[in-house]
Amino acid sequence: MYENPRLILDSSNPPEPGQITWRSPSNLAIIKYWGKYGQQLPRNPSLSLTLAASCTDMMLDYTFKEEGDSHDLDLTFAFHQEPNEAFHAKILAFLNTLTPFFPFLKQLNLNIQTGNSFPHSAGIASSASSMSALALCLCSLEDLLFGSLQDPAEFDRKASYIARLGSGSACRSIFPYAAVWGETSLVPGTSDTYAVPLEDHIHDLFKDFHDDILIVSTAEKSVSSRAGHALMDGNPYSEARYAQARSRFATLLDAMRAGDLATFGKIAEDEALTLHALMMSSNPSYMLMRPESIAIIDKVRQYRADTGHPVYFSLDAGPNIHLLYPGEIIHEVRAFIEDHLKEHCEDGYVQQDWVGEGPEEI
Ligand code: DP6
Repeated sequence: MYENPRLILDSSNPPEPGQITWRSPSNLAIIKYWGKYGQQLPRNPSLSLTLAASCTDMMLDYTFKEEGDSHDLDLTFAFHQEPNEAFHAKILAFLNTLTPFFPFLKQLNLNIQTGNSFPHSAGIASSASSMSALALCLCSLEDLLFGSLQDPAEFDRKASYIARLGSGSACRSIFPYAAVWGETSLVPGTSDTYAVPLEDHIHDLFKDFHDDILIVSTAEKSVSSRAGHALMDGNPYSEARYAQARSRFATLLDAMRAGDLATFGKIAEDEALTLHALMMSSNPSYMLMRPESIAIIDKVRQYRADTGHPVYFSLDAGPNIHLLYPGEIIHEVRAFIEDHLKEHCEDGYVQQDWVGEGPEEI
């Protein structure tokens, strides 16, 4: 769809060297994307909140290649100012798949320096923030060199499309506050190939909303997302799951429009537990929650019953708990975390985060 063989630089009029930097956040899915096919296409629409504090900064430098330089992609790379062979190889392989979209990349010497705002070993997934940051850098570069992405909506759409090819969930990080990825008649303009912004369809309370991440374990994930998605193909519950996701999506959308926190919270929790139940019922089966995850979940439910405060939990494909709540009860909830939940976290580590305005060019 976005392949464009005309995006080739004129060697008789080479561009000056330049630099582009983007900061892009992670996101938390409320309706989960779990199960995919083809080139990173989702089995059901997903809906996420865009975070603010958990983000990737990426700086892309480029110079035009001299005559006689190689025609291969040329990339130097550093992660937190250090060489990182594994990340370098992953990004280079991904960029090679993107040359039909950005053929001019082969005409440049590229240098990427990147880093995350959260410790690499924190157990917080970084593929959404890093792949969206990369997609944004590439789209900015295209626009700088060719002026071809002047329309902001078109820029975002292409960035989301490219981010999706790097990691499905990354396509949702492009937009402020909340995003939907996956075709649904309930939100105009949706597609399986890119996400769309949900800002105009949600109650204002979701724009002042918190997601404190309780780090139960910083251990490497025991199953990669890629492998996890693949397990859905043989899962006996998969078709029922995709239908359930669609039905919950419709309910969630109404709740988010109306500012109905109780329904929002119930769906967020049900989705997180369903994701883990799907992993437990896969073959092989995975148990990604730890005893501390369950202890926190029990305490959150009890706290809600005792205080009536709208505090809910979510999880990604790992043991860490995301605590979701509106800004107006931040003092109460932070005290609850401090007094009762921190003790379940590895080294007492909590990554405070909140719903944010999306990526920024810096
Ligand atoms: C549980 O986007 O990491 O976080 O497309 O293979 O890169 P790939 O998977 P990824 O899967 C995310 C799964 C999830 C749910 C979600 O974010 O929707």
